Amino acid sequence: TRGAQTMSETSEKPTIYKGLVGVYADVSAVSKVMPETNSLTYRGYAVQDLAENCSFEEVAYLLWEGELPNAAQLEAFKQETASQREISPALHRVIREFPKDAHPMDAIRTAVSFLGLEDPEAGDVSHDAQYRKAKRLFAKIPTCIGAAYRASRGLDPVAPNPAHSFAENVFNVIQGRVPEKEVLKSFDVSMILYAEHTFNASTYTARLVTSSGADMHGAITAGIASLKGPLHGGANEAVMHMLKEVGDPAKAAAWLHGRFDHKALVMGFGHRVYKSGDSRVPTMKKYAEKMAEVVGDRTWMEISRILAAEMLEKKNIHPNLDFPAGPAYYLMGFEIPLFTPIFVASRITGWSAHVLEQQADNRLIRPLSWYTGPEQRPVPPLAAR
Ligand code: ACO
Repeated sequence: TRGAQTMSETSEKPTIYKGLVGVYADVSAVSKVMPETNSLTYRGYAVQDLAENCSFEEVAYLLWEGELPNAAQLEAFKQETASQREISPALHRVIREFPKDAHPMDAIRTAVSFLGLEDPEAGDVSHDAQYRKAKRLFAKIPTCIGAAYRASRGLDPVAPNPAHSFAENVFNVIQGRVPEKEVLKSFDVSMILYAEHTFNASTYTARLVTSSGADMHGAITAGIASLKGPLHGGANEAVMHMLKEVGDPAKAAAWLHGRFDHKALVMGFGHRVYKSGDSRVPTMKKYAEKMAEVVGDRTWMEISRILAAEMLEKKNIHPNLDFPAGPAYYLMGFEIPLFTPIFVASRITGWSAHVLEQQADNRLIRPLSWYTGPEQRPVPPLAAR
């Protein structure tokens, strides 16, 4: 409910929901997470069914439109988005000026902000304009990631090909090649699984920005900033650094026990909502295993298997999606700092679906804080301090 103002006049400390744990902050019809059955649906469809039966483009359409497209709608959607992949010469120039050692997440955050400066409907926050902006971002984000990555390596950008599928395009603009079908399928699956996940930190950030009446590019720029953190999207990179640090399946258990001694976080494990298994993990694991087969290297999956078994046995903590996604991207030939930007290329769909939902029934998001600072006091003159 919209509820009454709850500003309390009492001096009794109210319940503080630190981290907003267990708080229902709003309603949403985009997705539903059911931790009791380790399941997740997008607009009513189970993610694992979408992953096995649909392309990422179909899922993007579903998240925005609420229904899966028919063949004609899908074709029109693919054409509309694929034809908008180019970025301006000005943005290419800006990207070439980025520091070569900048993290690709900072590069994509800056590029998306720049796209907001140039957007033909920059000042228009009507639903239709905001939706068109979301589709433009969906089309252009891989181009920006590819251009920034390649510039940092002294390489020329690869022009997006409008005939490519979303997955083919990502490989082409980053790696300059389109891999075989099984690799594309594994990648598409990861895009579908990463697309949406209710009120996670970055999505809630995007909704919060939207709640003040701000525009799509502002909300998405903030979402990217939030996703970068290692407790959130940044974990997929951290997972692969960890697997490489372990290096050898024979060392995995001892390495993990060393982490336990220091009470250190083990990246890719744990989840705020799921406590008995992440709905997306079995599907992603299956496709990470397929990648290991394609590449002919089982090292990372074997280390992963041992770490997951030990974490479950000793700590009763399950892996999250980032755990199988990290090695899957590595086996697909992506450099580690590109893993979280690739997550952005997917999550733009969920973020923008939430932005549109937030603005359709908006109320400024403005919680209260319980003050714990000094008592009220007089300002001493400068000379007396
Ligand atoms: N490694 C070791 N211990 C862990 C881990 C972990 N990855 N995750 C949780 N725990 C422990 C906590 O230390 C805590 O122990 P305690 O009760 O003895 O203090 C207990 O499990 C409960 O965990 P919380 O911290 O209460 O869980 P919370 O919901 O606050 O945090 C989070 C969830 C941030 C995801 C956490 O599990 C974590 O930091 N994981 C590692 C980072 C990661 O993989 N993030 C990706 C999230 S999924 C995604 O973005 C796609």
